[in-house]
Amino acid sequence: MANFTKKIMITGGAGFIGSHVVRLFVKKYPGYLIVNLDALTYAGNLANLQDVESLPNYKFEKGDITDEARMKELFDAYTFDAVIHLAAESHVDRSILDPLAFVKTNVLGTANLLNVAYTKWKGALDDKLFYHVSTDEVYGSLGKEGFFTEETPYDPRSPYSASKASSDHFVMAWHHTYGLPVVLSNCSNNYGSHHFPEKLIPLMINNILNSRPLPVYGKGENVRDWLYVEDHARAIDTIFHQGKKGETYNIGGFNEWKNIDIVHLLCGIMDRKLNRPAGESAKLITYVKDRPGHDLRYAIDATKLNKELGWTPSLQFEEGLEKTVDWYLQNQDWVKAVTSGDYQKYYNEQYNKR
Ligand code: NAD
Ligand code: TYD
Repeated sequence: MANFTKKIMITGGAGFIGSHVVRLFVKKYPGYLIVNLDALTYAGNLANLQDVESLPNYKFEKGDITDEARMKELFDAYTFDAVIHLAAESHVDRSILDPLAFVKTNVLGTANLLNVAYTKWKGALDDKLFYHVSTDEVYGSLGKEGFFTEETPYDPRSPYSASKASSDHFVMAWHHTYGLPVVLSNCSNNYGSHHFPEKLIPLMINNILNSRPLPVYGKGENVRDWLYVEDHARAIDTIFHQGKKGETYNIGGFNEWKNIDIVHLLCGIMDRKLNRPAGESAKLITYVKDRPGHDLRYAIDATKLNKELGWTPSLQFEEGLEKTVDWYLQNQDWVKAVTSGDYQKYYNEQYNKR
């Protein structure tokens, strides 16, 4: 282990975004040891990392971020230089069904990890880094105008966003109170391969393929800013290496879409790829009862990241969606594995009453 120039723990590395971050770091930095710490909840899947699992600078460790003894054991075993923290409960609809699970993992888990990192790094903080990955949802909901900047006051409105906002505050508290070197980023909605099919885009792709109803909440007029997941991973790489300690960076795609327009776009792409008559898949669109407290619009101003660190998104949305649809069509074994058993139970609870 002594030969590695950096030893980094990436939490939540078996999840959607985490697996892309792990892949990027393991491949781009063979001199870094990347330890993927993940509890393997329903959202964690080691199959996401098959292409890197045998590389010498990658290790997997199963563990729960709320488990203090296990976190201490890993810090002792690996003497980490940095943490990139993505492990979280991440789905708004599940946070409405079971809010305390979000408080436990996102708030207590993050505070536990901060505490262990500080305890283990105390006395040698200068060359350490705790990078906390967060969401634009902490800023609340926008009207038709305006953008979230790093100065926008926090105004979370779902149990998910409240738990992420709380975790962000704890990260800053450890920085200001104990001098822990931290950096934080708040990103807009991601899409791409390995996305669990409970979120809008992979759920719609899966339902279109199986000719199931496409459940659009409310009138489908809510707006999200979408970023290709590999662009988010690149932004994390940039901020990890060049970000200023104690600072927050907003990450976004400059790419706002109404939900209903995305669903129509996907229907069109899939009609073409599945050789269906034009308009066939759109017949599956079903308007269902709205999500309680449904945030109307998220839009990120990522100027700071662009101006200060030179990051910019690489893909147009239509191109990214084509690549994403292709990945799902070519990886049906992955989809079938993650939509068995528990997923069906969740799906019925979430959608059958609507
Ligand atoms: P995900 O749900 O796909 O993955 C979460 C991962 O964390 C899973 O592998 C899961 O097993 C693991 N995990 C959950 N609880 C854990 C625990 N107690 N201990 C250890 N591991 C645990 O989530 P994602 O979409 O990849 O999001 C990753 C991070 O990025 C989250 O912090 C999320 O808030 C943030 N984020 C997500 C988006 C998005 O669009 N998905 C946008 C901005 C920020
Ligand atoms: P989601 O992917 O859950 O991300 P978030 O709520 O964190 O932005 O949802 C994206 C948008 O799509 C959101 O406005 C809710 C909407 N939506 C639907 O209309 N139907 C669905 O089945 C899902 C999962 C989401």
